[in-house]
Amino acid sequence: MNRTKIAGIGMYLPSRVVTNNDLLKYMDTSDEWIQERTGIRERRYAHRTNETTTTMGVEAAKIAIERAGITPQDIDFIVFATLCPDYYFPGCGVLLQRAMKMKEIGALDVRNQCSGFIYALSVADQFIKTGMYKNILVVGSEKHSFGLDFTTRGRNISVIFGDGAGAVVLQPATNGNPGILSTYLHSDGEAAEILAMYNPGTHANHWVGQKLADFNEAEIGDMFMSHEMIDKAQNFPFMDGQSVFKKAVVKFPEVILEALAANNLQTADINMLIPHQANLRISQFVQHKLKLRDDQVYNNIQKYGNTTAASVPVALCEAWEQGKIKEGDLVCLAAFGSGFTWGSVLLRW
Ligand code: ACO
Repeated sequence: MNRTKIAGIGMYLPSRVVTNNDLLKYMDTSDEWIQERTGIRERRYAHRTNETTTTMGVEAAKIAIERAGITPQDIDFIVFATLCPDYYFPGCGVLLQRAMKMKEIGALDVRNQCSGFIYALSVADQFIKTGMYKNILVVGSEKHSFGLDFTTRGRNISVIFGDGAGAVVLQPATNGNPGILSTYLHSDGEAAEILAMYNPGTHANHWVGQKLADFNEAEIGDMFMSHEMIDKAQNFPFMDGQSVFKKAVVKFPEVILEALAANNLQTADINMLIPHQANLRISQFVQHKLKLRDDQVYNNIQKYGNTTAASVPVALCEAWEQGKIKEGDLVCLAAFGSGFTWGSVLLRW
């Protein structure tokens, strides 16, 4: 069985910097509130019309492919993770395939929100291990800024998220490099609606087995997006932040310890933990719980906000570019998010 290595990595952050104070134009908030609760100082927003989730993914992918020493035509499978696709369907995978003039290869879209990149890496790892593919492009990209409520009503969510993209090229590991040691994926759908965007959707005001609101029987012709939904801001994400926090600080350490135990390793063996950049307070809580030093954890949410599926590859790329990850280092990637879903990837760089 092959092992999988990261052969190239790239990231793309839009040039427009939006500070906490810039958000005061749109909503009642403050730099102090945002920094204290989330650690975020600024984030990037994509160009309103010239950039999309796919185009940012393409920019990150170009760098990853070049660094892997191959061309887009060498890629034999795409896995694209995002929660804000250009279209409801088809997904961004095929749009990237078209934009990069790739061959008629498979393109898979992953919808696992903040854990999207971890899920995508795990799926791609299986294809490399079995020998099915030799060059897989894995992308995480988000254009959150196009789908947030920028009024005071949506401030508990909109201040947190930012735009960006990260990408890696996976190949079979060579020269005795063990590459990816393990991937672990988990879910618990019990609280699926705690961090979610309900519309557009086909739920017709029913959650599984539960009626949400008085709603006449839906008739043929009723739509999954209505004026009423827009008036009630139901087309924007919803989050019960405190419930998310409580679950995240349990599941993050759990899935990291699971990976270490499976590989007979200890937290002290980790050279770099790259946690999904959900919230600086969550990362600090996890660091404290695992008794990790500052130099064992990489955070950049301060500059980019929470970029969901892009956050892990962007942080990994930046840490590597800064020389904080070296050959042979034990790197742990971990994420937790909407679903809830969570997971980890443990690898030797
Ligand atoms: N600016 C100013 N005040 C605000 C803002 C804002 N942007 N947002 C909310 N408030 C106010 C609320 O209106 C409320 O005011 P009130 O007491 O007068 O009613 C007060 O602040 C507290 O509101 P809460 O929603 O209870 O805020 P909380 O203290 O829980 O902080 C936060 C919110 C930062 C989201 C916190 O719950 C948290 O850290 N949650 C973890 C979840 C998270 O970080 N998710 C990230 C995305 S999901 C993921 O990646 C896994």
